[in-house]
Amino acid sequence: MKKTIQILLATLLISCNAKKELSYEQMNTSKKQSMEAFNDAKYGMFIHWGLYAIPGGIWKGKKMEELKGPKVAEWIQFGAEIPRAEYAQLATQFNPTQFDADAIAKLAKDAGMKYLVVTSKHHDGFAMYDSKVSQYDIVDASPYKKDVVKQLYDACKKQGIDFGLYYSHNIDWMDGNDCGYTELVKTGLEMNEKAKRKAGANMWDPSPNTFTEYLNNKAYPQVNEILTKFPDLKTLWYDMGHFVTPEQSLKFYKIAYDKQPKMLVNSRVGNGLGDFDIPGDNVIPQNHLEITKPWQTVGTTNNSWGYNSYDHDWKSVKELLFWLTEIVSKGGNYMLNIGPDATGHVPDESVNNLLEVGKWLKLNGEAIYNTRKWKITHEGPTNIEMKGTHDRANKGDFKFQFSPQDFWFTQKENHLFVMALEYATAPVVIKSLTKENAGKIKKVSQLGNLSAVQWKQTTNGLEVTLDQKNSNVNGYALKIEFSEKLK
Ligand code: GLC
Repeated sequence: MKKTIQILLATLLISCNAKKELSYEQMNTSKKQSMEAFNDAKYGMFIHWGLYAIPGGIWKGKKMEELKGPKVAEWIQFGAEIPRAEYAQLATQFNPTQFDADAIAKLAKDAGMKYLVVTSKHHDGFAMYDSKVSQYDIVDASPYKKDVVKQLYDACKKQGIDFGLYYSHNIDWMDGNDCGYTELVKTGLEMNEKAKRKAGANMWDPSPNTFTEYLNNKAYPQVNEILTKFPDLKTLWYDMGHFVTPEQSLKFYKIAYDKQPKMLVNSRVGNGLGDFDIPGDNVIPQNHLEITKPWQTVGTTNNSWGYNSYDHDWKSVKELLFWLTEIVSKGGNYMLNIGPDATGHVPDESVNNLLEVGKWLKLNGEAIYNTRKWKITHEGPTNIEMKGTHDRANKGDFKFQFSPQDFWFTQKENHLFVMALEYATAPVVIKSLTKENAGKIKKVSQLGNLSAVQWKQTTNGLEVTLDQKNSNVNGYALKIEFSEKLK
């Protein structure tokens, strides 16, 4: 008996150790199923919300553009070099009585989004959940006293929306010292001071502790804490891991794996690790075939993540549909941001545009969800490149108009989907769909259970005439079935 117990204990110990000793590759490849689910989901909501919503992009009369650093409003502490104690005072004013987690989860659902990721702690170091690790959080330091992450977690569960968390692991302007710069330099790494600015380090009023102390006393424990408090996360979204060493990245990755082995970690954990890639903020990759991991483009609804009171450059419905179709046709996911204001209200323009996209998805969602990229992503005369938040901001006045000859493709099993963002009032030819290039077509239908379309496959491609009574300002989608294997 004693022996059996000993053997049992030893096996248990071995299996525990075996789990601990898994290599990064083993952990990463064990998540295949979650990666497929991620690739199926396609569209999600990002939420940037924190104390920075109070200044809303203006500090002591100065707008982001007049301050140093990135122009996005959640960077105001960095831009205006606000001392830690002064910034922390914002917490005493944070009382978002309009915040309605159920309404936000319902918005995500009605918008056709499948998941939601919210900032549990952004670069300012302020936690939006009830943290026991630090008192610098919404429950302990604000008059609101309620855990907004928990509210959203519960609301998403009710709506059937998958949940994920953002956590700024490297930058913490309250407690993160200089992001690890000094410690890296001590290891002999040659770096100039400019790198500090690029990495977002606090250079105006860094916390007196070391970066290692920050990691051990705040970042690792808080990541553990959120993974315990919110046990059903689909993704953990680290950010800006510029000065994180390979060991630290691995540790952040492994903490996540140990607590929630099926959850995916994004590539911003740093040093080439991560289960899915982020090509960049507001970036649509030109080289999507070179991306080997599942990937996600994150985008803003205006040109800021955090609430910006004076940025009215809202992406139109047509533009948002362009981002979604262009990204999905390349095999990616689109995570679109909202930035509630300091009362918790979500700007009306975001809400309205999201809901319009939701209507489009109700009709045409079959061409988006659960699809994969085809060998051709787009045909037609319009080519728009999106190279980042500032690039997009500079395109502000640009009209997102497309021609009826612009088509985006996705595929699912032996079906091909064709999406257009302009309705075709005259017959159109989809040139990529010749028999030689795509295979012999058996059936063509317009999504949304609409009436049959007239079509013929010729040597020019697929010629289609749409029923004009289904005309829609935001275009349409076709489902193409093949009598042989889709090429
Ligand atoms: C950047 C910014 C940050 C924002 C994020 C969204 O890394 O630092 O403010 O949260 O991108 O992708």
